[in-house]
Amino acid sequence: GDRDDGGMMHGNGGMGRGNTIDLITSDEPAQPLPIPERLQPDRVTDEALYYTVRTERGKHRFFDEGVNTETLGYNGDLLGPMIELPAGKTVYINTINQLDEPTSFHWHGLVIPGEEDGGPHHSIEPGEQTQVRLDIDQQPGTLWFHPHPMGATAEQVYLGLAGLLYVTDQAETELPNEYGVDDIPLIVQDRLFTDDGQLDYDRQMNVDGTVGDTLIVNGAINTTFDVTTNMLRVRLVNGSNARNLDFSLSNGKAFTQIATDGGLLDKPVSLQTLTLTPSERAEILIDFSDLSIGDDLALQADGIPFTTFTVRDEVEQDGEWSDAFDGTSAPNESSVADRRLTLFGMGNMVSIDGKQFDPDRIDINVQQGSTEVWEIYNREDMMGRMTHPFHVHGVQFRILERDGNPPPDNERGWKDTVAVAPGEKVKIEMTFRETGTFMYHCHILEHEENGMMGQLKVN
Ligand code: C2O
Ligand code: CU
Ligand code: CU
Repeated sequence: GDRDDGGMMHGNGGMGRGNTIDLITSDEPAQPLPIPERLQPDRVTDEALYYTVRTERGKHRFFDEGVNTETLGYNGDLLGPMIELPAGKTVYINTINQLDEPTSFHWHGLVIPGEEDGGPHHSIEPGEQTQVRLDIDQQPGTLWFHPHPMGATAEQVYLGLAGLLYVTDQAETELPNEYGVDDIPLIVQDRLFTDDGQLDYDRQMNVDGTVGDTLIVNGAINTTFDVTTNMLRVRLVNGSNARNLDFSLSNGKAFTQIATDGGLLDKPVSLQTLTLTPSERAEILIDFSDLSIGDDLALQADGIPFTTFTVRDEVEQDGEWSDAFDGTSAPNESSVADRRLTLFGMGNMVSIDGKQFDPDRIDINVQQGSTEVWEIYNREDMMGRMTHPFHVHGVQFRILERDGNPPPDNERGWKDTVAVAPGEKVKIEMTFRETGTFMYHCHILEHEENGMMGQLKVN
């Protein structure tokens, strides 16, 4: 069937076969943007917060008319709540698996010990639960959580398992920060629905990454959101299995990027287009001060609008947000690579350094506290060329170089995933603060599943 074509014969100058499906403008009626609920802790003490997160099977209404779609969700039928993780606190999360298959809870972007990381070694059986302990000690930022069980990560994410983690800090007050009002998350994903409105992963699965023609944002198609003429802070998450997304505004005007995966940039960067590969995040500010009451402006991906903002109120801008930045962006200093990793292949043949994932093999050993520079090389394959979003667990890193050049201004912040284009060499620098076993992999989930993943042990 469709399922196993080995990824061969589909080199199309970019993305492999899957990504040749174009996004469409949906004719679904517009609906208010759903905002993920902010998870209430079960208990709060001076030092700690206690939460409960459970996986569930559910049915979700994507379409105005027609069927309910079978989905998976955290504490609900699709996606999950936003979990606040205050810096300096200990957060205990009781994770419960109510699916009929194993899953795990991976805290993508958190700098925590390997024990708590929720990777493929931490599967939870159906009906079981475990408690994780997360000591939050990093920059405020927009992170996310998703399953990571061996062989089922891509399918479980595709069917709806993904949630937001906000690392927060009391001190950060200048930026818009009223959740769901002037500070909103947008988890953007592409999906392909069958004629009867289902997400049939087995049929839609592609070895080079499962893609769809329909954009969903926070689980909804064609959304609207009311704003004022003040600044709106948008936290973008590319939650797609495989599709890169080029974000822009429908009026072609610039917006301001203020944060990367792991926290605020030193200096805001004005952009007209921003590309995020799977699992990358960015925070942007959209300025509505040129618009009047009743005006619309849409955010689009690859030119397809997915959320339309309507101005409902005029307010005076205070401009205070710029105080959140000290205005200097020191270029990252390059240095000699300690390790070189080569990403290679397509489809079922993807590898890192010629090897496919083996849960019983440690590929890289490092000493706790050491700082290393890795050069990631995306070696081109005659069978096709793809950008690989390279992700490392348990750290936030800096990008030092892209093909010998300093990274663009909007990549000079904390990152946990970096896009590596065909033929490109990207140098990153990171410090391994936490001990344990961690994954590094391509975040095209089907590549990860096909073996484009290695293990790193911090001793
Ligand atoms: Cu988003 Cu291995 O992780
Ligand atoms: Cu991760
Ligand atoms: Cu890949």
